[in-house]
Amino acid sequence: MIGIFDSGFGGLTVMKEYLKKYPDFDYVYLGDQANAPYGPHSRERVEALTLKNIDYLVKQGCKLIIVACNTASADALRVVQQKYKGKPVILGVIVPAVEAAFKQSRFGNIGVIGTRGVIKSGAYERELAKYGVLYAPTDKRARKEVKVYSQACPLLVPLIEEGILSHPATRMILRNYLRPLKNANIDTLILGCTHYPLLQKEIARMMGKNCIVISSAKAAVDAIEPYFKAHPDLLKKISKKGGRQYLTTDCPERFAEIGGRFLGEKIEVEKVDI
Ligand code: DGL
Repeated sequence: MIGIFDSGFGGLTVMKEYLKKYPDFDYVYLGDQANAPYGPHSRERVEALTLKNIDYLVKQGCKLIIVACNTASADALRVVQQKYKGKPVILGVIVPAVEAAFKQSRFGNIGVIGTRGVIKSGAYERELAKYGVLYAPTDKRARKEVKVYSQACPLLVPLIEEGILSHPATRMILRNYLRPLKNANIDTLILGCTHYPLLQKEIARMMGKNCIVISSAKAAVDAIEPYFKAHPDLLKKISKKGGRQYLTTDCPERFAEIGGRFLGEKIEVEKVDI
């Protein structure tokens, strides 16, 4: 079974990508709705909450756990990976998004948008800096410095959850957030939040055709295929009966309603105490 963990229902954008690509796997999705949103919390609190939720998924017998939440990936992935030491395998969403951005960026001008927590953590900057230089795909010898421009967008999560997507207010707020990134002439923009794929079309339209927009949800799933190739034993261990369980630590009705919108299908949600 694969466990997918998020602060709430946003991680269903990651689940949706998984279901498209690997419909036969058994999945358990856990959203910590009782403590959502994670974005405004301190690093210490996100770490403590993530540990508790991951412990729960490990007890359920997950062989692979995906930390779908960017904020939890930024603040707590290393800690949970160190605790479990590969048993089970625990992966986040930041490294896959960084790799996709790095590969596709033409000039190394990369923007990142996310919650306050993600931007404050500097996790995307750190991962991008590891690459140091960007080899332009057109000229293997051309080295370009990677420059990262980050922007916290704290108003987007509540707007998206309320379903206020194609509203003039949302467009105005979005335009304000994206303006500094447009002015910096970024050629690639990472959507470093579970929720932003719901605004991806609008964001891509505003950024214009010279900017590639990368969803961390999609990148996380794209990265798993080579991972499975490199780790065939893990692939064998994951049960494949097409099972799905949706668990939340609070408000199952709200979770089912909004989560259903994120996933694009009706879901049954169970409340769990962890
Ligand atoms: N899941 C969070 C993320 O991707 C967004 C919602 C929240 O702040 O909890 O960072």
